[in-house]
Amino acid sequence: MRSKIVAGNWKMNKNLSETKALLEELSEKLPATEAEVIVAPTFVNLADSSRMLKSSKIKVAAQNMHFAENGAYTGEISADMLLNIDVDLVIIGHSERRAYFGETDELLSKKVKAALAKNMRVIFCFGEELEERKAGNHFSVVESQLKNGLFDLPAEAWQHIVLAYEPVWAIGTGETASPEQAQEMHAFIRKTITDAYNASIANEVSILYGGSVKPSNAREIFSKQDVDGGLIGGAALVADNFISIIQAI
Ligand code: 13P
Repeated sequence: MRSKIVAGNWKMNKNLSETKALLEELSEKLPATEAEVIVAPTFVNLADSSRMLKSSKIKVAAQNMHFAENGAYTGEISADMLLNIDVDLVIIGHSERRAYFGETDELLSKKVKAALAKNMRVIFCFGEELEERKAGNHFSVVESQLKNGLFDLPAEAWQHIVLAYEPVWAIGTGETASPEQAQEMHAFIRKTITDAYNASIANEVSILYGGSVKPSNAREIFSKQDVDGGLIGGAALVADNFISIIQAI
């Protein structure tokens, strides 16, 4: 169901004591909100985070997972391992996974299916690179990422999907897509899903924007009709900033 969401992707930041300190501060300062609030700490701190937030409104997500049930995949983490520590949300397809770890659309599609098969919810990330936008190819890039990653899913699966449009040129650069650019792309995403499925699926899916969202620009971006929240990197690492972003929604 379409809902407002603010999610913090902590990436490879925060050791265990820093994780605990940030979660304590967030829990203390969390404002009353109807938005869903999610944090994604690093794997090694997920079990502690999940325990700490057991009775909290803040939910915990993993930043990645493997598609296999278990087996000889050194260094990898399965869906069952996440579920066993009460983590049923996973980010799949982040541009850093695509760019630095060679994750292809085909691999991501397998991961999405593996997560859904275990009744997990998926935050599926995608977005164009700067060269692609400059060349005017951003819509076709996004369309093909959606098609290859998600469009062979059955219609029912979409209730477990959250989309996160993250233009690569706006991630960690301080350069944000303008609210108009975000809105334009989010509307395009809904149209693409309407064409592939139907308008009700397109209107029910939450679409987050990610890329240099901060307290100073969150309100304007979130005010756009097709923007349902944000996937926040750097600003999610400082409690007051993340809290301001939650207030902005
Ligand atoms: P920044 O907010 O640091 O630009 O990162 C966005 C992001 O990649 C969230 O997944």
